[in-house]
Amino acid sequence: MSGAAIEATEQEGVYSDRERLYTRNSAPGRAVYGERLISWRGAEYREWVPTRSKLAAYLRAGGTFFPFRKSSKVLYLGAASGTTTSHVADIVTDGAVYCVEISPRSFRDLVPVCESRPNMVPFLADATKPREYSFGVPGADIVYQDIAQKGQAQIFLRNYKAFSARSGLLVIKSRSEDVTQDPERTYDEARRQLREAGLKVREVVRLDPMEKDHAMIAVGEP
Ligand SMILES: C[S@@+](CC[C@H](N)C(=O)[O-])C[C@H]1O[C@@H](n2cnc3c(N)ncnc32)[C@H](O)[C@@H]1O
Repeated sequence: MSGAAIEATEQEGVYSDRERLYTRNSAPGRAVYGERLISWRGAEYREWVPTRSKLAAYLRAGGTFFPFRKSSKVLYLGAASGTTTSHVADIVTDGAVYCVEISPRSFRDLVPVCESRPNMVPFLADATKPREYSFGVPGADIVYQDIAQKGQAQIFLRNYKAFSARSGLLVIKSRSEDVTQDPERTYDEARRQLREAGLKVREVVRLDPMEKDHAMIAVGEP
C-alpha cells in the first residue's frame, strides 16, 4: 500500500500519490477489477491502473485534455465489464455514464457494477446504431469510445452528432483498421476524418507501451 499522501491533480476528480492514479470510490468497499482500495483522510480511493484502463493510460502518457466535470453526462461506447466506466462514474458524481456494450457476456459483468453506482446506466446495444439506446440517453456532453472495430472514427462521429456532444475521447486501435498499415498513418487518417467533420482535434496521444498500437484522440471544447 502507498504511504504517500493522496492529492488532487489538475484533472477534475483524478487523484495521485505521485506514483499512481486514483479516483474517489463512489461505492465504498467495492473494487471492480481487483484494484487496490486505499483510505485517506476519511475517504476511500481506488487505484486507476493504466495497463487496465486506456483513459488512465492516456493521462499517464501525458494527455491533458480532460473534459469530465462533476455534472457531465457521458456516453460511453464499448463499456465491457465496467473497468473504465466505473472510474468515470467516480468522477461525474452528479452526472451520468450511459454505458453501451454489445457483448452479452461482458454485459452480465457490467450490470452489477451499474447496480452499485446509481449514475451508471447500462445498455446492451450496438454502438453503430444510436437509435438502439437513444430512448434512454437524454443527451451527452461527452462521447468516450473504446470499441475494437473497423471504422472507429465514423462510429464515433455518428454518436457525437446524434447526441450533440461538445467533446470526446476516441481510442483508435490501429490493428482494427488495418493490421498491415503503420499505426501512425492510421491515427492520421482518423484525425483527418474528425477534422473534416468539423471537430476540433485537441490531442493525439499514443498509448504504447501500456496499450500497444493504440492512440487516444481528444476532440471538442474543454
Ligand atoms: C477494449 S474493450 C473495452 C474496454 C473498456 N472500455 C474499459 O476500459 O473498461 C472493447 C469493448 O467494445 C465492445 N464492442 C465492440 N463493438 C461494439 C459495438 N459495435 N457496440 C458496442 N460495443 C462494442 C466489445 O464487446 C468490448 O467489450
